[in-house]
Amino acid sequence: MGKREELEKLHAKWKTECACELRATSLQAVPGDGSAEAEIVFIGEAPGQKEDEQGRPFVGAAGKFLAEMLSSINLKREGVYITNIVKYRPPNNRDPLPEEKNACREWLLGELRIISPKLIVFLGRHAMNDFFPTEKISNAHGKLLIKAFAGMPTKYFYALYHPAAALYDGSMRETLMADFKKIPKVLEKIGV
Ligand code: URA
Repeated sequence: MGKREELEKLHAKWKTECACELRATSLQAVPGDGSAEAEIVFIGEAPGQKEDEQGRPFVGAAGKFLAEMLSSINLKREGVYITNIVKYRPPNNRDPLPEEKNACREWLLGELRIISPKLIVFLGRHAMNDFFPTEKISNAHGKLLIKAFAGMPTKYFYALYHPAAALYDGSMRETLMADFKKIPKVLEKIGV
């Protein structure tokens, strides 16, 4: 079975089995989306309203900004894989709760195991703190983090501010764009 089919099987399984309580209040699951052969996986927080309506991650304003940043380094969203730690929209876009992150964790880890990317990029502190609980995004953004986790295919991680947080904050936006532009150098450094 190829990676694409494996991913489809994974999403079909978790769409029926995921125990996340947000299933009751959201319209549908929002699994990851993009290339099954991607070398980079981007991990966000949780779907918002547009994502909940369309069943695809990062299709609203933050997604448009993400697509712009991808194109600034000559990447297209179809060439990478984009997902979230939580697969269902929290009511009123509140922060996801620890139990919601836990309920969706195996789904995310399944995506990462199948794709086996060279680099995992965190979009915001929620995604980063899921793997690096003591790091502060204000310190870790724009830096390569290296850590081996049992059962995880990659040990290279890169943290960014969340595109939604940076949308309306000029200086955070500039920092995010500058950090994003360093991704090709990071890939070079890790031998991609
Ligand atoms: N913000 C996220 O973290 N994920 C999405 O899918 C959309 C907005």
